[in-house]
Amino acid sequence: MSTIICIIGAKGGTGKTTLSHMLCYGLGLIGKRAVCVMTDDCRELPPHGSLPYVFGDGRSAQARARIISTLREREGWFGVIDGGANRIETDSALYQAADLVLLPFRDSQEDLRVVCRDLQRLPRAFALPAQWPSNPWQYKAALRLLESMPAELQHRTLAPVFAVSSSKLLLQTPQPVSMPTPVNKVCRAFAQYTLQVLAHGAEPLRTSHTAIGASRRLESLVAARET
Ligand SMILES: Nc1ncnc2c1ncn2[C@@H]1O[C@H](COP(=O)(O)OP(=O)(O)OP(=O)(O)O)[C@@H](O)[C@H]1O
Ligand SMILES: [Mg+2]
Repeated sequence: MSTIICIIGAKGGTGKTTLSHMLCYGLGLIGKRAVCVMTDDCRELPPHGSLPYVFGDGRSAQARARIISTLREREGWFGVIDGGANRIETDSALYQAADLVLLPFRDSQEDLRVVCRDLQRLPRAFALPAQWPSNPWQYKAALRLLESMPAELQHRTLAPVFAVSSSKLLLQTPQPVSMPTPVNKVCRAFAQYTLQVLAHGAEPLRTSHTAIGASRRLESLVAARET
C-alpha cells in the first residue's frame, strides 16, 4: 500500500511546491521511494534529476486520477501532491484521495486567516507553519501569532518548517546533483516528522514547539522563555 500526501491550501506562495520537493527529497534521503506530483498546468514538467525521488505529471484531473490509482497499486511508495492556490474544488478532490493533508502557511495575519478557513473546510487536514523564521526574536514573534489561533485549530497545527533559502535549488532546472547541508538536514527532519504524524497523528501544538531542524541555540531560547 502506498501513502498519498497532499500539500494544498487556498493561499498562494505559502511554499506548497517547495515543501512537496523538500518532503520527497527528505523521504528519498531516508531510503523511501517518493514521487512529487506536479499539478500546476502552467508549468512544464522538469526532467528527472539525480536526487533520490521522481516527478509525476498531475497537471490535469485525468492525469491526477491515473497517477493516484497507479500509486495505490505500488507497495511502499509515497506520492506527494503539490496543490495550487485558489483551487477549492481541486483541493477538495485531493483531500478525499489523501492519507495526509498538509496546509502550509507563513507567519502573517493573512496566511493565518486563510489557513484557519481551510482547516474548517478540511477537517482531517493539518496546518503546517512554513518558511518559518529561524532568527530567535522573529521566531518568538511568530509563536505568538500561532497562540492567536482558536484552541481547536492550534491542536491541528504541526511543528514549523524553517525557511532555508537554498531550498529553491530543488526547483531549479536541471536540479543540482547534490544539495547543501542545511537543505539535507531540514528535508530529512521534515520527512521523519511526517512519518511520525502519519503513524501517530499530531501532538497538540505547544508554544514551546521547536521547528523542524531547529538549532540548539533556538531550542535553548525557547526553553528559557518557558521558565
Ligand atoms: N522553506 C522555505 N525556505 C525558504 N524559502 C521558501 C521555502 N518554501 C518556499 N520558499 C520560497 O517561497 C516562494 C513561494 O514558494 P512556492 O512556489 O513553493 O509556493 P507555492 O505555495 O507553491 O506558490 P503557488 O501558490 O504560487 O503555487 C518561493 O520563492 C520559494 O523559494
Ligand atoms: Mg506552487
